[in-house]
Amino acid sequence: MCGIVGVVGAEDALPILLQGLQRLEYRGYDSAGIALSGPEGLALSKAKGKVSMLAARQDLLPRALPCGIAHTRWATHGAPTDENAHPHTDCHGQIAVVHNGIVENYRELKGELMARGHRFVSDTDTEVIPHLLEDYGGATDLLTAARNTEARLQGAYAFLAVSGQQPDYVVAVRRASPLIIGRGDAANYIASDFTAFLDATRRAIVLENGDMAAVTPKTIRIWNEQGALVDRPEMTVDWDIRQAERGGYPHFMLKEILEQPEAWSDCLLERVQGERIQVEAMGLARAALAGWERIQIVAAGTAYHAGLVGKALIETLARIPVDVDVASEFRYRDPILLPNTLVLAVSQSGETADTLASLALAKQRGLATYAITNTVGSTVAREAGAVGYTYAGPEIAVASTKAYTTQILLLTALALALADARHRARTDLVAKLASLPALAEQWLAASEGIRLAAQSLTDQEQMFYIGRGIDYALAMEGQLKMKEISYIHAEAYPAGELKHGTLALITEGVPVVAIATQPRLMAKVQSNVAEVKARGARVYAVGAAALQESWGDDSLATIAAPDPLLAPALAALPLQLLAYWTASLRGEDIDKPRNLAKSVTVE
Ligand code: M6R
Repeated sequence: MCGIVGVVGAEDALPILLQGLQRLEYRGYDSAGIALSGPEGLALSKAKGKVSMLAARQDLLPRALPCGIAHTRWATHGAPTDENAHPHTDCHGQIAVVHNGIVENYRELKGELMARGHRFVSDTDTEVIPHLLEDYGGATDLLTAARNTEARLQGAYAFLAVSGQQPDYVVAVRRASPLIIGRGDAANYIASDFTAFLDATRRAIVLENGDMAAVTPKTIRIWNEQGALVDRPEMTVDWDIRQAERGGYPHFMLKEILEQPEAWSDCLLERVQGERIQVEAMGLARAALAGWERIQIVAAGTAYHAGLVGKALIETLARIPVDVDVASEFRYRDPILLPNTLVLAVSQSGETADTLASLALAKQRGLATYAITNTVGSTVAREAGAVGYTYAGPEIAVASTKAYTTQILLLTALALALADARHRARTDLVAKLASLPALAEQWLAASEGIRLAAQSLTDQEQMFYIGRGIDYALAMEGQLKMKEISYIHAEAYPAGELKHGTLALITEGVPVVAIATQPRLMAKVQSNVAEVKARGARVYAVGAAALQESWGDDSLATIAAPDPLLAPALAALPLQLLAYWTASLRGEDIDKPRNLAKSVTVE
């Protein structure tokens, strides 16, 4: 996730900004940059790569300037390159901007600005901001220009702007993406999280959604969404630096689980517009959709499990046959690939060796290829014919959580777009898809029960996960999450398959997680639950809210999905938290489980 840091009123802004950037490195990034503002105007340095590279050439920047802004970028719109790194400037290099999040309507704005003669040098959505500021007179009155600019932007974002003509002044805008102001004695700080300025001050003001702030060395003025001057409370941060790097959470995995509402919203933002899926914003041409007669998904691990959810959704909604293969199997099984098959590679990192080899095989066979990945500029993104980004932000814990659920969301959007192309449009579902981030937020806010349930699992050696249909795909992900971080042996089964052998392992007290989000299969799953309970199993049910009562004491979590087909991402949340809390109570090294790597770039 991108990181923002700014300072105003410093004796020497450069080392403060460099240290702030280093503090933000934990968030993951692919390029970094700094803009300093002083009496001589703006000075800028930015590059693809590490903050240490910027630090190594700091001699190129002036010293003893009071004010500046800086950024670590995690590419979303445009590859990780020098040109796409922030800060971005207007045509005359008088205004510089750093930005987190997504400006959804940047294409229209860019077209309009170019038609008025503005020159763009990057592929980013960000660059429209300094050009709009320029148009609105931002070089001399940044605040008024920021107000006018903000009124033109759609999306979820935060940005800082400085002008070479107002060297003691930073304007900060928060719309969804977080921004925090640090109050110092002689200088003030602005950052996307506390970590960036904890060395300088622990007094912090959290901007609320819709706020705009004008920050000078001695003053912090904040206006709310309605334009009224407001007082926001000041708090004292008592975290240590390591805690702060994880947003105060004990592990990145927990942080990433709790970031899902924001990640989902970023993922869906440009893709769901009213009752239609914007396929172009998923990297696809609408005209191509009707031509695919089969889909072949290739992926590994968690991404494979997302592929299984995708298969269920695409087949149900669009009635296109879908095969899903583990990439390490696909590449060696000499697959039969018919013409008009779309080969879809799903990969968080975009660097998984087997997934890349499967993609190469599909290309050799002359098939259309599409990648769903979280990593802009990754090999899968470069090699596939088209790419859709999940926009989950960097995932640092080895166990995949927000990348998985955003893969599911993008696959859901793809299924809906394919259905539309086959005259089976489900506009009702498109509209409901947009409600999922808020539902996830509500559910996570009341998820304390999962931690309590995990207490009963800490001494277990084996567990089972069961479900039918799409819930079986979820069961597979649930069991993987549990075993990779808690080291409890867990297995997933189609609920109806247990009695063909595995039921022999169900004895007194064996935990069985039963997933039942699909009302049409509910009675069947409940029969399977009765079978395991009769053998003494302890059941943890993740079930549709409508049937909550029927689960009684077995209920672990209820899933209030707006439609059963939109339940998978929501149902993944309790499964992730159950694994997390079990591993946490067992004292395991959650973010770096034994023997595992985040990105598997070898066979
Ligand atoms: O980067 P990818 O999505 O291609 O990685 C594939 C798997 O290695 C990955 O999903 C792995 O299973 C997860 N880290 C498990 O949580």
